[in-house]
Amino acid sequence: MPGFPRNFLWGTATSAYQIEGAVNEDGRGPSIWDRFAHTPGTIDDNSNADVASDHYHLYRQDVQLMKALGAKAYRFSVAWPRILPEGSGTPNPNGLDFYDRLLDELLTNGIKPFVTLYHWDLPQALQERLGGWTSRDTAKAFADYAGYVAGRLSDRTKHFFTINECSRLVQLGYGLGFDAPGLKLPEAELNQVRHHVALGHGLAVQSIRAHAKPGTKVGPAENMVVCVPAIETEANIRAAEAATGDLNAGYLTAILEGNYRDTYLARTGKNAPKYTAEDLRIIASPIDFVGLNVYRIDHYVTAADNERGFALAPFPASFPHMDAPWLRLGPEAMYWAPRHLAKLWGVTSIYITENGTSAADEVRADGHIYDLDRIMYLRSYLTQLARATSDGVPVLGYFLWSLMDNFEWADGLAKRFGLYRIDFETQRRTPKLSASFYSEVIRRNAIV
Ligand code: NOJ
Repeated sequence: MPGFPRNFLWGTATSAYQIEGAVNEDGRGPSIWDRFAHTPGTIDDNSNADVASDHYHLYRQDVQLMKALGAKAYRFSVAWPRILPEGSGTPNPNGLDFYDRLLDELLTNGIKPFVTLYHWDLPQALQERLGGWTSRDTAKAFADYAGYVAGRLSDRTKHFFTINECSRLVQLGYGLGFDAPGLKLPEAELNQVRHHVALGHGLAVQSIRAHAKPGTKVGPAENMVVCVPAIETEANIRAAEAATGDLNAGYLTAILEGNYRDTYLARTGKNAPKYTAEDLRIIASPIDFVGLNVYRIDHYVTAADNERGFALAPFPASFPHMDAPWLRLGPEAMYWAPRHLAKLWGVTSIYITENGTSAADEVRADGHIYDLDRIMYLRSYLTQLARATSDGVPVLGYFLWSLMDNFEWADGLAKRFGLYRIDFETQRRTPKLSASFYSEVIRRNAIV
């Protein structure tokens, strides 16, 4: 039975817009996701997150769900438009009240809070005033907001993640238009957006250090491009490492190396981002850990006799995936992603900030939800995580996505990722079989 290091931190994860609801309460301003979700044709099942999992009102009950799992930690995000309805300026005096209550509730129940500062719900005012992340000023506004929140919450939580999934927010929000703000920008502008997000991360790290209590720790939560050796030969492993550095060059590599690699600049050519040496220093501001959202293998890699030293193998049409076409089954991602971080950049503290799957859950006649596919997925990924920690890869904790069903962005309420089912009519929470599986894993600190 593969086990985990002592004190391994088992948790669950959520984000504000996906669960809170209460979009018009206590002075919250609109976010780009409110606007997007209310635009006809954007969300698959025509739902929105006006109510979502109603966590804003049911958070006490939800902390009890965590407790029932035996979870030791919880990753949630703060909604920027609750704190600064206009995006910047004077904070809403009631903006932090909900998070104050939530933090107190978590601590009373012995659950360690990890706070994400930006999980995609940009204040709509900043989209209108500045063009969102197309503007450098959004990076500055983010840093001000992050410093303010960390200053106020760091008496009770020591861990902050800056930005959730830069890669997706840029690609799907500004490139393909599937996510808010729904833009389809040309490549040069897209690379500039990515640069501003990286800059926002670095400025936020500095602002958090300036405002938070001593001992506060900060890092990104990124969906790195996961490159796995197609077959684990020495040559393929070297190739997968080379691919990792190269294919993450616009964000994670820049944060960890303080530079945009020549290969990235050559590849983007006239579409490369515009930046200064000072920008790069800010982007590479020292961090305390790296958070990784790991769902799938992006590329199987082989060694190749070319300039890059690697080749990406094409996926056959029959490659298996979970309940979403993008969610290819690739448990080895959970071994190689953190191992690459440790090996390539000497990262010594890693958290798996998300991992999980949607499934076509059904409530059976006996009232139970037998989500065996989710259990199979989790068991196989956790086996690879155990392989990583027993090889000495410094993963300190794991946050399962997600505690409960929620608003899965453009897939709406139809794609369910929770350990707890939510009946969105009644807001009733029901544990799925995977909740029992996960609580056994936590209890034994080993895969069951
Ligand atoms: C990553 C995102 O951070 C989260 O918001 C989303 O729900 C999950 N992936 C599943 O798609």
